[in-house]
Amino acid sequence: MGHALEAIDISKSYASSGGDVTIIKKLRFHADRNEFVSFVGPSGCGKSTLFNIITGLLAPDEGSIIVENQETTGQTSSKIGYVLQKDLLFPWRTVRDNVILGLEIRGVSKRDARERAKAMLHIYRMDGYEDKFPSQLSGGMRQRVALMRTMITDPQIILMDESYKALDYPLKIALESELLDVVRKEKKTVIFITHDIEEAVTLSDRVYVMKARPGEIINEIKIDLETDSPFIPERRMSPRFNDYYEMIWRNIGISPVLV
Ligand SMILES: Nc1ncnc2c1ncn2[C@@H]1O[C@H](COP(=O)(O)OP(=O)(O)OP(=O)(O)O)[C@@H](O)[C@H]1O
Ligand SMILES: [Mg+2]
Repeated sequence: MGHALEAIDISKSYASSGGDVTIIKKLRFHADRNEFVSFVGPSGCGKSTLFNIITGLLAPDEGSIIVENQETTGQTSSKIGYVLQKDLLFPWRTVRDNVILGLEIRGVSKRDARERAKAMLHIYRMDGYEDKFPSQLSGGMRQRVALMRTMITDPQIILMDESYKALDYPLKIALESELLDVVRKEKKTVIFITHDIEEAVTLSDRVYVMKARPGEIINEIKIDLETDSPFIPERRMSPRFNDYYEMIWRNIGISPVLV
């Protein structure tokens, strides 16, 4: 069997006053079933653009997207769930009705959908919030509703664009540990965007490092923390953590301005 997802030589430019600007150039990567793959790279290097192309929201100028051996370039796929960088909730829908949106579209009965939403709200520690509206929630809570809305449809491939950024640390650790546990048990594929090198190392099986202008992959790092634990603090304390952290940090080439 081929890869769960494959991107082959994806390029994308935008027209600007000074001519075309190449955002992504000949980008090629893959992610397998039961694999957690992250992208790190500077702001503006084209990470969200890449996700929009993978999900078919945006057509590439060149290249193809293959989902489980089928070309889906420029099309949406029901196998892919996407948690957008901005939590785009419907302000006129309650928390519950935002969470069950994807189930409604799939024709699941209202009763079943509500039951599943209740279980989800419990996992994400938002019991009692089902009848609230997005405007009544904190940023972190809205992000959790966006996460639940994707996870409830049980996609095979999950795309997350800085999904845990707005959460406080203990909740982030809890939800990330939970995510790792679930995706391993269910052998899902996760493709994850983050600015946080620590997050990339603790979560991933592989990390792609990108550079900007044009956005290209400059390195691919295979991570093995030598632990099977999905619990983030345990993974963080792996003796190998620092080596990976340093490798990625050097790849990104952050210059220490303050020292
Ligand atoms: N519709 C558009 N028209 C023109 N330029 C665009 C458009 N959308 C994105 N861009 C440009 O493409 C580049 C890549 O944007 P993108 O949002 O993919 O970056 P990113 O890596 O996700 O950044 P961040 O880490 O800040 O989220 C940016 O320079 C952005 O200004
Ligand atoms: Mg982005």
